[in-house]
Amino acid sequence: MEGRGRRRTKAVRCAACGAPNAASARFCDQCGRILASVARAPGDRRIVTALFADIVDYSRLVTELDAEEVVGRIDEAFGLLAAAVERYDGAVEKFIGDAVFAVFGARRAHDDDPLRAALCGLEMTSSLEQVAHDRGEPPLRLRVGIATGEVVASVREVGDRTDLVVTGDTVTTAMRLQELAEPGEILLDEASVRAARQRLEVEVVGEHAIRGRAEPVRVHRLRGERQHRLVGAAGPGLLIGRVADRARLRDALESTHRTGRGRVVVVIGDAGIGKSRLVADMEEEARGLGFAWTWTENLSYTTGEYYAFARTFAQRLADEHGTDSGSFARRLLFTSDIDETTTRRLAGAVAAIARDAEFSGWEAEAALVPADPADIRRSLGELTARYVRRLAETGGPRAVVIDDVHWADRSSRPLLDQLIKIVTDVPFTVFVTTRPGSIPAWAPLAHVELLELSGLDSRGTGRLAASVTGTSLGDETSDWLHERTGGNPLFVVETVRALLEDDALVMRDGRLELGDPSGVDRVPVNLRALLGARIDALQPAARAALQVASVIGMSFSPALVSELLGGAPADDALAVLAESSIVDPAEAGGEWRFRHPLIHDVAYAGMLSSRRRELHGRLADSLESGPLPPQIGQLAHHRAASGDRERAVPLLAQAADAALAVGAVTEAAGYWRTAAVLLGDDPRAGEFRARIRELEIAVSPRATRGR
Ligand SMILES: Nc1ncnc2c1ncn2[C@@H]1O[C@H](COP(=O)(O)OP(=O)(O)OP(=O)(O)O)[C@@H](O)[C@H]1O
Ligand SMILES: [Mg+2]
Repeated sequence: MEGRGRRRTKAVRCAACGAPNAASARFCDQCGRILASVARAPGDRRIVTALFADIVDYSRLVTELDAEEVVGRIDEAFGLLAAAVERYDGAVEKFIGDAVFAVFGARRAHDDDPLRAALCGLEMTSSLEQVAHDRGEPPLRLRVGIATGEVVASVREVGDRTDLVVTGDTVTTAMRLQELAEPGEILLDEASVRAARQRLEVEVVGEHAIRGRAEPVRVHRLRGERQHRLVGAAGPGLLIGRVADRARLRDALESTHRTGRGRVVVVIGDAGIGKSRLVADMEEEARGLGFAWTWTENLSYTTGEYYAFARTFAQRLADEHGTDSGSFARRLLFTSDIDETTTRRLAGAVAAIARDAEFSGWEAEAALVPADPADIRRSLGELTARYVRRLAETGGPRAVVIDDVHWADRSSRPLLDQLIKIVTDVPFTVFVTTRPGSIPAWAPLAHVELLELSGLDSRGTGRLAASVTGTSLGDETSDWLHERTGGNPLFVVETVRALLEDDALVMRDGRLELGDPSGVDRVPVNLRALLGARIDALQPAARAALQVASVIGMSFSPALVSELLGGAPADDALAVLAESSIVDPAEAGGEWRFRHPLIHDVAYAGMLSSRRRELHGRLADSLESGPLPPQIGQLAHHRAASGDRERAVPLLAQAADAALAVGAVTEAAGYWRTAAVLLGDDPRAGEFRARIRELEIAVSPRATRGR
């Protein structure tokens, strides 16, 4: 074979006999069977952020330099770009000529992929500048385009290589934005900016028509990272509800105020439930009691950095005193009352933290860092204790916020634990926020209490929504919104924004109500990303059960889930979902339920359409062959969703009649609408449309409201 000059680069293994074959082969050399050289494993639909970065000066280099030198420079640049992608846990999908294509959230979703992509873009630019600066050469400039939206992510196996392929509009948009960018510019689409606006400085460039997109895209230029997150100011208007929760936090402050002893409150709740907002609201209260206020946050993408939390903490205190963290630590720690050995030990501990960080002014002490990791750890414990005690001695009572402790980096954790233990002896109140499933080990300590935040009630939901729209909502609409979002403030705000954008709210008797029912079920992109990340974090068995359950509907029986999973028991998987607050177990023989429709819709939307159709079909079969006569509406819905038009249409008509018989006009119109959509160009569709029109004339517009 070699003799015939065929290069055996990538082997394709024959699925039947396992023999390796040339990548270009269509039949197996060994057994003669056809080779499935490009096999696709099923994928999913997900929200990702795509980034294209193109090296502008590539063609200039080619004309100016020797080809070998160009290759060297470009390889080096690609190395730096890839390192930036890796740092933010994205994946380089491809190098294309002089450009790199990276995706954030394709292999694993984070709840801040757009932010990660934007920061990655900034780092790409600055690392190219840095290298050029070090060499005294002009930097290679980049054009960067970033877009966020839905793609189909599938696994493509070519030979023994497995590639993840992402396909969708979003990829094209990112590429077009990159083409549109000026040298040195990073352009973002609206969805990316929305999701990351709290941490980015951006300006609007304008609306641009983009090939392949029906609507023009609003383009933003990235100017940089916002230094301090707009905590507290991040939401519209006043804090809504949370009366009892605020009282708990105030109690802790007052107790410290009274006794001079520290208290710790751990605020627990899902993303967006309002942990940071609640804690931020205590600042005025704390200052009113004469407390200093220190806010420290942990970021999802610094979890892998050494001493990230310790550095933030030291930095915030230094900021408060108008100095840098190195000098502040020196001033605070080394007083005349400690002996030389202690001084050296503490200095070694600070230098250990400074070593891996931009913590200047401690280079001279680097030699004092102990060689034995156990010694470093011990002296860090001593350092933390002294730092905290001195802080209390010099600065008096203080409220310290440790936001998102679940993202604290590993090396800082012992320091953080130590801080929590010793605050009982100093007048510090510590507010810690965390997500469920990540309760710190020190939670049982006597001076630590837990505060679980739940969603706002229906009234609170309505008030929050009104703070976004500027007009009150009708009661029914507030109830619908509460039901849909579980009262999670972030979900409420984003859902209302989407409704406003889609003109789905109409004014009736001075209040806003849901208008056209189509579109009210749309899940805003950033919520899909956020909830998608929560689903991604589940173990595969739980994820599979969740998807199957979402096909069944908002409520489901474990038996049916198990049947659709091929008979495997689903109890363990469902228990995991309940623990993750995604579903609620059945009460007294009833059915299990999704916590709120948003999470249901996101789980459902994450499946490939082909998989959804298959599951709906199997579900309809199972309903038909079950011991009880199936509920006709349900059966019609599953037949329709399986794409089985011929079986679905008569069922839909039957379901509509049954609905009309009990006066459920909205439901009846819904069945006819589905039938009309399924039928498409078929003349029978006209008949259904006519019936919907008749019904609409017969009843008030209120009757066509969504669920
Ligand atoms: N009680 C409230 N009243 C008004 N707005 C609120 C309230 N709670 C939260 N919000 C708003 O909802 C959004 C989400 O809140 P927040 O950022 O505090 O959530 P979180 O629980 O800290 O989420 P994460 O786990 O992602 O940090 C913010 O815009 C916030 O201002
Ligand atoms: Mg928060």
